[in-house]
Amino acid sequence: MGRLLIKNIKELVQVLEPQVKKLSGKEMDSLSTIKDAWLAIEDDLIVGFGKMENWEGISDWTNLKVIDATGKMVFPTWCDSHTHLVFAASREEEFVDRIKGLTYQDIAAKGGGILNSAKKLQTKTEEELYNDALKRIQEIQQMGTGAVEIKSGYGLSVDAELKMLRVIKKLKQTTGMEIKATFLGAHAIPVEFKENRTAYIDLIINEMLPKIKEEKLADYIDVFCETNYYTVEETDRILAAGLKYGLTPKIHVNQFSSIGGIHIGIKHNALSVDHLEVMKEDDYKILINSECMPTLLPTCSYFLGIPYSPAKKIKDYGLPFALASDFNPGSTPSGNMNFVISLACIKYKITPEVAINAATINAAYAMGIEHTQGSITVGKKANFFITEEIPSIAFLPYYFGKNCIESVYINGKKID
Ligand code: NIG
Ligand code: FE
Repeated sequence: MGRLLIKNIKELVQVLEPQVKKLSGKEMDSLSTIKDAWLAIEDDLIVGFGKMENWEGISDWTNLKVIDATGKMVFPTWCDSHTHLVFAASREEEFVDRIKGLTYQDIAAKGGGILNSAKKLQTKTEEELYNDALKRIQEIQQMGTGAVEIKSGYGLSVDAELKMLRVIKKLKQTTGMEIKATFLGAHAIPVEFKENRTAYIDLIINEMLPKIKEEKLADYIDVFCETNYYTVEETDRILAAGLKYGLTPKIHVNQFSSIGGIHIGIKHNALSVDHLEVMKEDDYKILINSECMPTLLPTCSYFLGIPYSPAKKIKDYGLPFALASDFNPGSTPSGNMNFVISLACIKYKITPEVAINAATINAAYAMGIEHTQGSITVGKKANFFITEEIPSIAFLPYYFGKNCIESVYINGKKID
């Protein structure tokens, strides 16, 4: 490690003051950048930046490594605040079923979907799950992601949920990357509890939560609040219990129907409410005056062929929003945040500036790390990527399908 200077940066993107926690409504329209810039790193932190013309050199620095970024831009790494990237197996057979005409709900009703993933996860060891997830982490790092939230929720039993969370904990410890763990025991109702859902919820509350607290396995709690999954009343009960164990909610709501999940999230001070493909007028209003971050997942809409979230309307209400991948084997088998941003621009009809704000500072906020990530700010983590030579910022989402990233740095260290 040591000292690193990047000079002649064509444009240094997302330069923010440390007090900026999130950007809302019209604030999302502009992106703060410095053209012809330098950026200085010491160990794992950003220690300075500015315009090349004001560059006076760092004469007292020894062992300074210098990178010339002529023609290239520097961005803070993406924060991916919603993923399920610990899973046992892919589900491309469901993908083919959907092509043939089945819906996500049809597939779930015949035992596919989340229950399919849960069945497969039971048979895997912690080590196998860890090794596979580590590969996915390396894959998303290469694509510019520098922090990620990961959910449990494919266990659906005390042992298997704890197994998933232990895998996430180990990923936190071994990768050095900022990872947040979310307990999603309430992702689906396991088959064996179909006739007695309350017994499973009791298990979540009385068995899983105490063990999670004891082993410090989670930062947040999630519930899939949706028709055929968890009701608003059940969500209310689970979130209240989670809060008692110190877990702030980040929840799945309004993916297929608007049943009041957002209201329950706000009631329990959710850090984020995620999906929001289906919104009623009331849903927007309840978000105003809250500190909650609406989080949108355009690649899920793309992959399932469901409606795209009304991002522009959310923003027109003066609200912020974050973008995340939802990386999971069922509804979004991709953790490529570059494609998330591109798709958001095209389908939500939002500008690249709005999308980049959503995938950096707002996404950092949605995982509680806005004080250390999500922007180029002195004192924040040296998490950034250097692009290939590109003509403009808009070129990144425009040139979709290719990630114009030359190198990625996490904690000041180049990712191989
Ligand atoms: O966010 N909607 C709930 N959970 C995931 C999908 C889970 C799955 O199909 O495996 C999602 O889309
Ligand atoms: Fe999800």
